[in-house]
Amino acid sequence: MKPSIFITRKLPHSIICSLESQYEVEMWEYEDVPVPREVLLDKSKHVSALLTMLSDNVDKELLYGTASLKVVANLAVGYDNIDLKAAGNLGIIVCNTPDVLTETTADLTFGLLMATGRRLIEGDRYIREGRWKSWSPLLLAGTDIHHKTIGIVGMGSIGEGVARRAKGFNMNILYHNRSRKYEAEERIGAVYTSFNDLLAHSDFVVILAPLTEDTKGMFQREQFIKMKNTAILINAARGPIVNEEALVEALKTGEIAGAGLDVFQEEPIDPQHPLLSMENVVAVPHIGSSSKETRFNMMSLCVENIEAVLNGESPKTPVK
Ligand code: DGY
Repeated sequence: MKPSIFITRKLPHSIICSLESQYEVEMWEYEDVPVPREVLLDKSKHVSALLTMLSDNVDKELLYGTASLKVVANLAVGYDNIDLKAAGNLGIIVCNTPDVLTETTADLTFGLLMATGRRLIEGDRYIREGRWKSWSPLLLAGTDIHHKTIGIVGMGSIGEGVARRAKGFNMNILYHNRSRKYEAEERIGAVYTSFNDLLAHSDFVVILAPLTEDTKGMFQREQFIKMKNTAILINAARGPIVNEEALVEALKTGEIAGAGLDVFQEEPIDPQHPLLSMENVVAVPHIGSSSKETRFNMMSLCVENIEAVLNGESPKTPVK
């Protein structure tokens, strides 16, 4: 019997045809509706491979309910939706999609920083709502980006990508990371600081750390108080790194000046969420890596990883 694969979201045929020629492939039929939990649990029971989205909860219950699962290929660089420990205990290989999305995600992150700092989305709304009556000296005056200080929390490859972009804008670059990145310091001129110093001195605090037990809830009221009142927070990593209640409060009370968010505690975020009624918040729906080129590259990488494992070879990008 051919090994079987379950793909949890509808992907283009051009991407999955090589899998279809070798294996039994079943795919959830919708592109924009997540597979219901019961369906996922049921489909996972007897397959050899899963191609999952970051919105699928690949937890202990799911993994221990499988009989022949060999590989989970997650369409994301982040893998906080997967219980790695359980997968490891069961000998199931987990793969992600690093590198192929680095530059695209760095583009979005820097774009979010610019959109928030220079009030681009507010400006768009202003025109569309017919509010633009005349040019005026301080109309939608934002904050400069060039020569300001950016503080990057999480200096992985996406963090470095953002730092390279910041260098082009003549920004001072601070970073905080679990370990020092000496090469980035030399190449980009990034300066390592403690978390508290980064908060105190940055005009833009940019979160690009993975979601782990250490980073969950890293930004609370206390951290916002340490930031400049003029500072802007950018989160392009994972929502739960920031306590959203504390963020709302910090924005309301003027502890910080604005926020650009690609990620949220609950996704999709409730349209009634207080963050979304604030003019100084720019929100986009977790599209960090969403360029056509990159999303196709990510999907292809998932396919290659699955093929490798099912052929008894080492996958290109296993999570270690
Ligand atoms: C990832 O790949 O983890 C990103 O969050 C997707 O945009």
